[in-house]
Amino acid sequence: MTNTNNRNRARFITLEGGEGVGKSSNLAFVQNWLNQQGIRAVTTREPGGTEAGEKVRALFLGDEALTPLTELLLMFAARAEHISRVILPALNKGVWVVSDRFCDASYAYQGGGRGIETEFIAALEQRVLQGLQPDLTLLLDAPVEVGMARARRRQKIDRMESENHAFFENVRTAYLQRAAQSLGRIRIIDATLPLEGVQQQIAAALKTII
Ligand code: TMP
Repeated sequence: MTNTNNRNRARFITLEGGEGVGKSSNLAFVQNWLNQQGIRAVTTREPGGTEAGEKVRALFLGDEALTPLTELLLMFAARAEHISRVILPALNKGVWVVSDRFCDASYAYQGGGRGIETEFIAALEQRVLQGLQPDLTLLLDAPVEVGMARARRRQKIDRMESENHAFFENVRTAYLQRAAQSLGRIRIIDATLPLEGVQQQIAAALKTII
C-alpha cells in the first residue's frame, strides 16, 4: 500500500460538501497552493477522473431515474477505475492527488441521502479501497439553503441537484457525523465566509499535512 509513514510520500487530499459550497474554485486554490510549496499535484474528480468514470458520471447525473443501489454500485465501479488507473499510479510516482469528492460522498449521498445502510457501504469501501484513505479531507460546509441558492443560479440543474431540501439536510448531517468520527482526517471548513476566509482555513488545514 502507498500510505506509509514516510515524510516525503505523496499525500491524497479530497474535497467534499453539499451542492453550491464552492468546491471548484477551492480545488484550484488547493492545487495552486501546493504548487507554490514546490509540491507536484494532480486534480481529479468523482464520479469521473477516468474515461469509464466520466461515462458513469454522465449516466449518473443524467435524467434517467436510478435506484439508490444502482447509484451506489455505479459510484464504486467508477471509484475502482479511478483508484487503479489514476490515484495509486500518481501517488506511487510521488505526485500528490487532489480529488473533488471521493468515498465520503457515497456515505453522505447514498447513505445519508438515500438511506442505504452504512455497513453495506463500508463493505464495498473495504473491498474497493483496500486501505487507501485520504490523508486530509476538506469538508466545505454551509447551510443547505445557502448552497442550494448558489447551485440554482447555474444554467442547468442535474439529477442530484433537483433533489429536495430534506435530502440535502440528510446529506449534510451525514457529512458532519463522518467528520466527528474521522479522528481529524475530515476538517470542516466554514463555506459561508467570503472566499478569502474560506481559503485561509484551507491553507491552515493543508499546513498540517506538509
Ligand atoms: P459535483 O461533482 O458537481 O458535486 O457532482 C457530483 C454529484 O454526484 C453530486 O451531486 C454528489 C454526487 N455523488 C454521489 O451521490 N455519490 C458519490 O459517491 C459521489 C462521488 C458523488
